[in-house]
Amino acid sequence: SAELNPALLALDWLLGVWESDEPGEGSFSSIPPFRYNETLHFSHVGQPVINFMFNAFHTENKKPMHRECGFIRIQPGGNRVAFIIAQNSGLVEIEEGDLTGQQLTLHTHALARTSFAKEPHVQQISRVFQLRPDGKLEQTVSMAMEGGPLMQHLHVTYRRSS
Ligand code: HEM
Repeated sequence: SAELNPALLALDWLLGVWESDEPGEGSFSSIPPFRYNETLHFSHVGQPVINFMFNAFHTENKKPMHRECGFIRIQPGGNRVAFIIAQNSGLVEIEEGDLTGQQLTLHTHALARTSFAKEPHVQQISRVFQLRPDGKLEQTVSMAMEGGPLMQHLHVTYRRSS
């Protein structure tokens, strides 16, 4: 496998495969709270870019649910990080934020959707990735729908599986 590009050293704690440790907890205004399982893949091919894939599954019937994939870039010589994301729901997004130690706090920088996306439309997405001292990775996602407040959508912890 390719040697890690030095530009990625500050993000090397993300690399590998992560499995939700216990089911993730989801909430959305129009439905009861739900649980899901999720696998995250972060890899590289020697470029100063991380490739990622996040695949979520229904906890009981294992059916595929939300999926997203994309690329992570880090500002040369800085601590600004960008996620370039395509989601199976028809959203594409750039999220940006600062890296502080082993925590990344991201906010929507650009967002586009299909012409036939259902309403209400999401306007802002924020998420935090954090590598905890116990070696688990934690992700919290919040979003604001058109005219609404920022509300938590997801909270999940992962353990490293490879
Ligand atoms: C609903 C965004 C990840 C499960 C929604 C909605 C949005 C949204 C905008 C509103 C309704 C719609 O447009 O379909 C996102 C974003 C995610 C994400 C930006 C990633 C950061 C996930 C994940 C799951 C999930 C990982 C896990 C299974 C659901 C469910 C609903 C929903 C069950 C409500 C049912 C529905 O209307 O489809 N999400 N979501 N989402 N999301 Fe997510």
